[in-house]
Amino acid sequence: MKKLFIIANWKSNKTIEETEKWFHDFSEKLLLESADLSNKELIICPPFTAIERSHDYSVNLKLSIKIGAQNISKFKQGAHTGEVTGEMLESLVLYCIVGHSERRKYFGETDDDVIEKIKLLLEYKITPVLCISDLSQLDSYVDRGKQIIEKAEDIIFVYEPPNAISGGGEYKPDSPDDANLNAGKIKEKVGETKILYGGSVNSDNASSFFSQPNIDGALVGQASLDPIEFLQIIKNA
Ligand code: PGA
Repeated sequence: MKKLFIIANWKSNKTIEETEKWFHDFSEKLLLESADLSNKELIICPPFTAIERSHDYSVNLKLSIKIGAQNISKFKQGAHTGEVTGEMLESLVLYCIVGHSERRKYFGETDDDVIEKIKLLLEYKITPVLCISDLSQLDSYVDRGKQIIEKAEDIIFVYEPPNAISGGGEYKPDSPDDANLNAGKIKEKVGETKILYGGSVNSDNASSFFSQPNIDGALVGQASLDPIEFLQIIKNA
């Protein structure tokens, strides 16, 4: 049976108090419903301000949830006001989202920026969760960074078409067949590795993506903010 990766991307949501409530509600419901967590890697990516507490809540509540970041500086260290570096994240997280289309759209991140960030993540042994909007973007990454192929086994790829992401404007999830086809094409280019699907995943549609042969899990935004809905996604996996 394949191992599923279910990654919550909380984006710019949740104060520390809201984070505490999320973990408590999640663990309470988990105890009541005894969901099967075997063969599933659960990862929460809170905002930077809630990373440490998320880790503590997860440990104290005996949840086998791993913690990830949503961003990393492309600079190693130095005079870059507001940036959080790999060295700072190294002891806090095991995973980090990189190349998300919202960072490209709102913060002008380029392919070269993404490659720099991947290099640093690999150096600090933090697993990059690399979002790919389409296959031409993957080609560009492959041209710019040899790590994309050489270290593909150490990278989790996410096929996430921007118009499938919930919020802002018109959006709808990709069809499971199309997502599977594109995940297969990513595997053809980079070799055997983990490929997730992202974009409007919820408890109603999650299993239709998880059952696809080329899809190893999901990056979940909006639906991960509610612990009960997130647990339902896990249960439906
Ligand atoms: P969504 O976001 O599940 O709210 O569509 C996914 C993502 O942007 O990672």
